[in-house]
Amino acid sequence: MDARETMYEGKSKRVIRTDDPALVILEFKDDATAFNGQKKASIDDKGRVNNAISVLLTEEVQKAGVPSHFVKRLDERRLLVKKVEIIPVEVVVRNVSAGSFAKRYAIAEGMPLAWPLVEIFYKSDALGDPLASDDVAVLLGWAKRRELAFMRDQALIVNEVLKTFFGHVNVDVIDFKLEFGRIGENLVLADEITPDGMRLWERGTGKKLDKDVFRRDLGDLSETYRNLYERLFNAPLPAVGS
Ligand code: TMP
Ligand code: ASP
Repeated sequence: MDARETMYEGKSKRVIRTDDPALVILEFKDDATAFNGQKKASIDDKGRVNNAISVLLTEEVQKAGVPSHFVKRLDERRLLVKKVEIIPVEVVVRNVSAGSFAKRYAIAEGMPLAWPLVEIFYKSDALGDPLASDDVAVLLGWAKRRELAFMRDQALIVNEVLKTFFGHVNVDVIDFKLEFGRIGENLVLADEITPDGMRLWERGTGKKLDKDVFRRDLGDLSETYRNLYERLFNAPLPAVGS
């Protein structure tokens, strides 16, 4: 399997063609963006940390029976994944009020929700990812009703896996975003599972361990991500190239 040219360059990753049409390479960059790309920076070690964390978390959810595009880790920045047709829907699961949910309904951040809430957003940079509904998604042809039901079910399973996993290292999963893709008739979890797309608060202190540190100028994201790596792997981030 040889790497070929970049097919698509996103804000935090590159998608690279391989000589197998069914497989692509995801390469994690050090770039961070927020507010639909209006705020940008390069964050030392972010690509390597997110690559490692994404592998760790994806393997956990696969063990729980959630199908994923993930095939294997190639090196410290690159993953081999199955090529999918991305569904233009972002699935957000929330356990505690925060972010756009708290703002939209004018409630405080940090209020536990009585049960996990699943929201869907239309994946469109041009429109700033607006909130959507299953009815709109079906009507506008983004996904079939059975696909939306499947994504909701899988997202709730992922939530249970992540809450348990992070609970072991004293971290609360506040919310997170997933994307799914089609391979023929089947749906699989696609994209990354990393602190770029999750809110993670230290249990007890509420300290933010995710990309909100960058979005909200709360400190050094590079250090935050290296610390999260250490917490999850119980070892320091290896030196570059090791
Ligand atoms: P929100 O509160 O801003 O709607 O974000 C909910 C979750 O989704 C949060 O964990 C961060 C994640 N997220 C992304 O992964 N990408 C995005 O573009 C946005 C806005 C949020
Ligand atoms: N999707 C947002 C952006 O580009 C990132 C975020 O807030 O998570 O800038």
